[in-house]
Amino acid sequence: MRILVTGGAGFIGSHLCERLLNEGNEVICLDNFFTGRKANVAHLFDNRRFELVRHDVTEPILLEVDQIYNLACPASPIHYQFNPVKTVKTSVMGMINMLGMAKRVKARILQASTSEVYGDPLIHPQTEEYWGNVNPIGPRSCYDEGKRVAETLMMDYHRQNDVDTRIVRIFNTYGERMMEDDGRVVSNFVVQALRGEPLTIYGDGSQTRSFCYASDLVDGIIRLMNTEAEGIHLPVNIGNPGEFTMNELADEVGKATGKQIEIKHLPLPQDDPKQRKPNIERAQKLLGWEPKVPLAEGLKKTVEYFRASIGNSASA
Ligand SMILES: NC(=O)c1ccc[n+]([C@@H]2O[C@H](COP(=O)([O-])OP(=O)(O)OC[C@H]3O[C@@H](n4cnc5c(N)ncnc54)[C@H](O)[C@@H]3O)[C@@H](O)[C@H]2O)c1
Repeated sequence: MRILVTGGAGFIGSHLCERLLNEGNEVICLDNFFTGRKANVAHLFDNRRFELVRHDVTEPILLEVDQIYNLACPASPIHYQFNPVKTVKTSVMGMINMLGMAKRVKARILQASTSEVYGDPLIHPQTEEYWGNVNPIGPRSCYDEGKRVAETLMMDYHRQNDVDTRIVRIFNTYGERMMEDDGRVVSNFVVQALRGEPLTIYGDGSQTRSFCYASDLVDGIIRLMNTEAEGIHLPVNIGNPGEFTMNELADEVGKATGKQIEIKHLPLPQDDPKQRKPNIERAQKLLGWEPKVPLAEGLKKTVEYFRASIGNSASA
């Protein structure tokens, strides 16, 4: 198959491109390099089935493909709040452009949605039926509401134009090729620990998150894309239900880096969700999927990556 991956030079996108190529597909990786890097896919340049296109999804593009994975969108608060209007445009206009293409060439399309559509959830763990508790006018809204509209567009193109759609709600994912300075908690903690700096915990550290290793996530979204089942167009949570407080995560990072951990507390940012944990029964039932990589193992690999990427000062 010829497969388009928008945001393909980003953290998750680069792992996805790699896996799709390994499975024998042609891959077109499209990216504007806002948070993605050529270095993330440089090891794929020698593969004749791989193409890299510099393009912004807010502009239309003509391509003939069989499947589209729409991942283009900055994912960390530092980046999506840098230019919030552009973040909304990327989610909404990008989605319209990609759905237009899917409709025209009859490609199947998967949208990378997010657990952020649940906002600061009032039910726990979150099932796909939950409509969420999202602030529509806060600093996180450009991302959360942009992704919610993208889901609306997916469902409307499916109902109105019979486009073959898939929506994955991705919960916190970590692994190699995350950016070291993008403010996401796993990369923050690992980089701070390797540099011998105190780990920054916002609030008292009792808030929880669930962390899915990149290879598990990629496996789940490829299964979703290629599954045909009753109700498959409705959103599917993909994440690791193992739930950790930030204090527990700090301990795990201490073990994975072999460093003595110190903690620095800062005030909680506005609208920071208190708890986050996916209910993955739907993914288990429809896709036969569940995560395989435990946090300690995924952290070890992530630490190895950052140890090499942040250089000698870190490994000292
Ligand atoms: N990593 C997570 O924990 C997580 C959780 C939920 C959802 N997601 C979603 O998964 C997708 C990938 O996230 P990631 O963690 O790899 O983030 P990332 O920032 O590493 O990747 C996003 C990619 O999209 C590209 N991009 C951004 N705006 C673009 C535009 N207008 N046109 C073309 N390319 C553009 C960036 O340059 C980057 O390569 C995103 O849509 C994100 O919202 C990620």
